[in-house]
Amino acid sequence: MLRAARRQPVPFTPVWLMRQAGRYLPEYRAMRERYGFLELCRNPEAATEVTLQPVSRLGVDAAILFADILLLLEPLGVGLEFARGEGPVIRHPIRSEADVARLEPIDVEDSVGFVFETVRRVRQALPPTVPLIGFAGAPFTVASYLVEGGPSRDYLATKRLMYEAPEAWHRLLELLAAATARYLNGQIAAGAQLVQLFDSWVGVLAPDDYRAFVQPHTRAVIQKLTPGVPVIHFGTGTAALLPLMRAAGGDVIGLDWRVDLDTAWDAVGHDVGVQGNLDPAVLLARPAAIRERVKAILDRAGGRPGHVFNLGHGVLQETPVEHVQALVDIVHDLSDRR
Ligand code: CP3
Repeated sequence: MLRAARRQPVPFTPVWLMRQAGRYLPEYRAMRERYGFLELCRNPEAATEVTLQPVSRLGVDAAILFADILLLLEPLGVGLEFARGEGPVIRHPIRSEADVARLEPIDVEDSVGFVFETVRRVRQALPPTVPLIGFAGAPFTVASYLVEGGPSRDYLATKRLMYEAPEAWHRLLELLAAATARYLNGQIAAGAQLVQLFDSWVGVLAPDDYRAFVQPHTRAVIQKLTPGVPVIHFGTGTAALLPLMRAAGGDVIGLDWRVDLDTAWDAVGHDVGVQGNLDPAVLLARPAAIRERVKAILDRAGGRPGHVFNLGHGVLQETPVEHVQALVDIVHDLSDRR
């Protein structure tokens, strides 16, 4: 059930969950029986249905577009695939200065227009009180897939390019930043009311390297976005980077569970909001344990406006759907009583 009538101004802490549309949901798995992952993303009717699934089942306070941060790379002809059980694979990674030199600018409108069509359809289908969140990967995290060819533990190929060929690195990130800003502005024009920039893996960097190799490009993306649309800027493992991420931009800074929410909020400043930060693994435990940990996070937020409840990273595939439901109800219940 939607709790839309209770919103505006938000009398409780709003909650939505990263990867709330995903494999822990039986109705998503049923869609995946019929479509490959990329096929699902490219089909606006099916992608709309998947976007709406967690909203109608769980009563979360926002919808997040069903798409992927790597869709933007398809037009580069790098051989993007989502192999079953393997996660994303890029068959022809970008490893050298010569590889970077060969890249053509990305024609966003032409190549990911299907995402804008999904946004239009979702916005029409959602009740007016439920906001739609658009998203993209931040330049560093998208570049890391492009260079590594898939997920990585230590990002050595990425760091090597960054240290050894800084000019090529900056050219690559400029190309990604320009496309990302157009991609997000296209989602906004189509009806997304907030956007989240995922810099999921940026926590592998030293603060000085973030400053030199990442911050200018993330800032360039955020500065180009349509004014007036709130931006959530998220990363994991970012305890030492939070003030730098905040300086790069964003109205809300996304936190993972490796930080205390209150000290992290002090670090980014109370003139921005924070989102987070329950460990997704807590959802494997019974609702009584979930409740205790939700309460601890709400206590650290102290009832201040500007806290969006979320997990510190995406819902894990093995999570029982009843526990996700319990989480949403617990957040609403506990934050209502303040
Ligand atoms: O949050 C949502 O419900 C919206 C949909 C969404 C997806 N990907 C769908 C998806 C969002 C917001 C993303 C973002 C994304 N994609 C990120 C940033 C967020 C994060 O988790 O750090 C990243 C790094 C990616 C790249 C990506 N796509 C990976 C690493 C994987 C494999 C993940 C896994 O668990 O196997 C994907 C595939 C993917 N994207 C799935 C979904 C639902 C699973 C694909 C499937 O159905 O097989």
